[in-house]
Amino acid sequence: MSTGIRQTALERPTSSFLSLLDAHEQLNEMFLSHQKALLKLDVKAALERLADYEQQLRAHMRFEEEVLLPIYRRAGPIPGGDLEFFTGEHKRMLEFIASFKEALAELEKGQLELERGIIELFRHQAMFMHLVEHHDFREQNILYPKLDSLTSARERAELLRRSRGWEESSRAGRAGVVSAGCARHNAGIGPQLFAGDQRRIEMPGPLEILKHEHRIIERGLRALDGISARLASGQPVRPEPLSQLLDFIRTFADRCHHRKEEEHLFPALERRGVMRAGGPIGVMLEEHEIGRRLVADLSRAFEAYLPGDRTAGRRLASAARSYMELLTEHIQKEDTILFRIAEDILDEAEKARLADAFEQAEAELGAGTHEHFELLAAELERELAV
Ligand SMILES: [Fe+2]
Ligand SMILES: [Fe+2]
Ligand SMILES: [Fe+2]
Repeated sequence: MSTGIRQTALERPTSSFLSLLDAHEQLNEMFLSHQKALLKLDVKAALERLADYEQQLRAHMRFEEEVLLPIYRRAGPIPGGDLEFFTGEHKRMLEFIASFKEALAELEKGQLELERGIIELFRHQAMFMHLVEHHDFREQNILYPKLDSLTSARERAELLRRSRGWEESSRAGRAGVVSAGCARHNAGIGPQLFAGDQRRIEMPGPLEILKHEHRIIERGLRALDGISARLASGQPVRPEPLSQLLDFIRTFADRCHHRKEEEHLFPALERRGVMRAGGPIGVMLEEHEIGRRLVADLSRAFEAYLPGDRTAGRRLASAARSYMELLTEHIQKEDTILFRIAEDILDEAEKARLADAFEQAEAELGAGTHEHFELLAAELERELAV
């Protein structure tokens, strides 16, 4: 059993739509090339590389919207995978790019201070990259696997052949404006994209796995925040999503994620000298315990809320807010402090052992459980977040 991001780490058969993830990686590299130009304060090159990126991105999106999504529609409703999610995210990405172009045009005219403008642009681009990451994740875990199951091997082979045609014609269309960096990159990647039956790609490390789980937990927290706001203003909340959210917190956030940290990551860090008592590990463990007590409060208030106890609604709102605040800060500390320390002090062999232990922990949770909760978090966020 594997996590969503682990699926990218498997060898991708070229007979699967997952091979389209290569195009995502290529696009990410093109965007990076644009950001490298920004770092050098070279606005002209940044604009050119952004134009290259946009052209390639539009070709990829057109292929998905005109060819793949009509096939995907055959599957009917899929939790967390509405067709409009994909097209809506495409639209938002293009809106972001339009705003980047506007900001760069202003900078080119010299109307704003260059360094300040570029720092502001990087801030804005961080949001865009977050959206792209979510979008890629959704396609990788929902769209492409579903397309694999909806198509015959022959149909897949033909569609993937056509996708290469779309990409190639897009590349040909921007010949002459492509930057040297991108040209080298394309030359390196292009011929290998569909060469051979399978390609080996890099495995995500244990810290990437945990950070990715943080992003999923944050979706649940945004849903919880929405519930808390409704209850605090006296609005009723349906019991079903509330119960699903409690299940998500207990199983995904605590039994799966916190267990990986407590049983595997923290001991590995202690062996490398990171302090438990009075140190960062002790603080993280204490916060996990406070979280468990708040989840127990949440459960009790939920049980009382079901038969219509309105004061329980207020208790529920307050416990939900406390848990949300605790976990939000906890995740931030881990992402920005503890995981950075771990990245530095754990060697490759230890990281590989941790990744194996995480996989084992997920397997013990039950086949498909991790994936189920990833989708559920997306669904709950969509329904409940404000
Ligand atoms: Fe897409
Ligand atoms: Fe933690
Ligand atoms: Fe964590």
